[in-house]
This record gives sequence, C-alpha cells and structure tokens, in this order.
Amino acid sequence: MKYVLIGFMGAGKTTIGNALGKEYGLPFYDMDQEIVAQIGYSVSEFFDREGEQAFRKLEVEVLERLLTLDEDAVISTGGGTVTTEAAQKLLAQSEVKILWLNTDFATLYDRLLHDDVERPLFINNTKADFKALFDCRLSTYERLADLKVNRAMQAKIMERSLK
Ligand code: S3P
Repeated sequence: MKYVLIGFMGAGKTTIGNALGKEYGLPFYDMDQEIVAQIGYSVSEFFDREGEQAFRKLEVEVLERLLTLDEDAVISTGGGTVTTEAAQKLLAQSEVKILWLNTDFATLYDRLLHDDVERPLFINNTKADFKALFDCRLSTYERLADLKVNRAMQAKIMERSLK
C-alpha cells in the first residue's frame, strides 16, 4: 500500500510524511524533492523557465513513477499535484490511501511566511488571491481524501515521532 499525502502548500505534507515513514518503517518520497533531483534546479526556477503547465506535466510523470514503485511507501505530493485530471486518474487506478492534511489557512500562511523554500504561487500572488486558490482547491482535496488528518491528529503524529 502507498500512503499519499495531499494538501495545500504549507499544510505540513513533508514533515508529516517524513514522520509517518519513520514510524511505519516505510520509505518516504517528497515529490518536490524528487523533481528537483531530476531537473537539477529549483521548482521556482522551473516555473520561471517552463511555466506552470509544464510543471504539472512533470508532476504527473514523477507521480506515476512513484506510484508504480514495487514497494510500500509514503509519498508527499506538491499542493497542486492532485488538481490535474491526469494525476487524479493515476491515483484512482492505484492502490493508495490518500491522507489530506487539513490545515487552516491562517496556520499555513504563517508557516509559508517563515519558510525558506521559494514557492512561485505564494510569492507571486496577493494574500487574497492565494486564499482564493486555497478555497478553490479545498473541494478537490476533500473529494480525493480517504482520511482527513486534522491539526490534532497532525500534532499526535509529530509527538510520536519525537519519542
Ligand atoms: C505548488 C506547491 C509546491 C510546489 C510548487 C507548486 C502548488 O509544493 O510543488 O511550488 O501549486 O500548490 P508544496 O505544496 O510542497 O509547497
């Protein structure tokens, strides 16, 4: 079984995914990191050079590669990965449990303000537009989720990982 973490930027997918992988003794793959390793430069630079559409295509390729690995694993997606039909189709065809990190906007926005990773959609949008993107994606995350991981559950996972 593969456990796929979905949710908006700053929801905690990488941190929680890493903790879950350790707790269950499963390899952990972070899609953004996989992409950076593959292209050899940052996601932000890829957006500048090739645009968002090309990034979404690349995400689908990487998602397919990870979903077809012959091992159980924890995979954290990028916030926009599951917004494309191609990605949703791949997930529907795969044996996965989809965990949605349901983090409120104020929390993730504050995290992003203090995060070193450059996110083009965060940097190039006003707060209102960024909130609109968040609102727009919620129904997709909700529809795809097998499990909603709220903040209390996230805190418990982190607590266990520190023991
Ligand atoms: C994106 C989320 C980012 C990264 C890229 C685009 C998005 O990943 O893939 O900047 O469209 O939501 P994180 O969700 O890990 O920040």
